[in-house]
Amino acid sequence: MFKLIRQEIDAMIARDPAARSRMEIALCYPAFHAIMGYRGTHWLWQRGFRVTARFVSQIFRWLTGIEIHPGAQIGKRFFIDHGMGVVIGETAEIGDDVTLYQGVTLGGTSPSVNSDGQRGLKRHPTLEDGVIVGSGAQILGPFTVRKNARVGGNAVVLSEVPEGATVVGIPAKVVRQEADDRFCAYGTPIGDLPDPVARALEELGREVKDLRDHVVKLEADNAPVGAAGDVVADKPRIVASSE
Ligand SMILES: CC(C)(COP(=O)(O)OP(=O)(O)OC[C@H]1O[C@@H](n2cnc3c(N)ncnc32)[C@H](O)[C@@H]1OP(=O)(O)O)[C@@H](O)C(=O)NCCC(=O)NCCS
Repeated sequence: MFKLIRQEIDAMIARDPAARSRMEIALCYPAFHAIMGYRGTHWLWQRGFRVTARFVSQIFRWLTGIEIHPGAQIGKRFFIDHGMGVVIGETAEIGDDVTLYQGVTLGGTSPSVNSDGQRGLKRHPTLEDGVIVGSGAQILGPFTVRKNARVGGNAVVLSEVPEGATVVGIPAKVVRQEADDRFCAYGTPIGDLPDPVARALEELGREVKDLRDHVVKLEADNAPVGAAGDVVADKPRIVASSE
């Protein structure tokens, strides 16, 4: 039990650049309080104390601003940075080493009762190990976000996300593939921070190449042709419009 708590705290220190000590996590991190609360309410839920579990869960929601349904299944070393506004639904499943930022919803889009009156259907997403979900993202429906995938801030995810993919936008689309299993704060790959000067030079290089290709094509189009239709000039030339 203490080993598990220690693991949770250490995972938070490792993943939050602002965290300095275990004491700071234990006293100041709503995510730590919410997750500890969830571990207790899930225990009650599994043993059939459903109303008590929901009631205690509501107290933790008032205290932390994080709503985790006691029926949800959550793996080890789960971290919610900042936390306020996070909602995790009853049938959500979360693997190990998953990170959420504030304002994330793991929500449903369909009712829990089907047309035959059958209750308890899965209606919330499954997040596999190592997934990182940016602030304000909404993941809605009973599909899977595969291992080490990253969801951009404010994305609305409505269908399965492949392993290692980064998705952004509404509805979310893949913009990057093959993230590895190393954690990177905010989902932004280490050593791959956007450098505006490098990007501008890259863009300039692409434009110069396009222009060069265009000039070569124009020169080839304007080259004089021989009787048999062959190009006779050593080098093609451009005919000015005033000629
Ligand atoms: C999605 C994310 C993980 C991608 O990081 P990345 O792999 O470094 O990707 P890039 O920054 O190179 O972006 C790739 C493309 O997606 C776009 N993009 C990135 N994040 C986006 C977002 N949240 N919404 C819409 N588009 C986004 C970029 O503009 C870029 O588009 P382009 O190729 O047309 O220029 C990151 O941008 C993100 O949103 N992280 C969550 C951060 C967060 O929640 N912080 C809160 C901390 S309190």
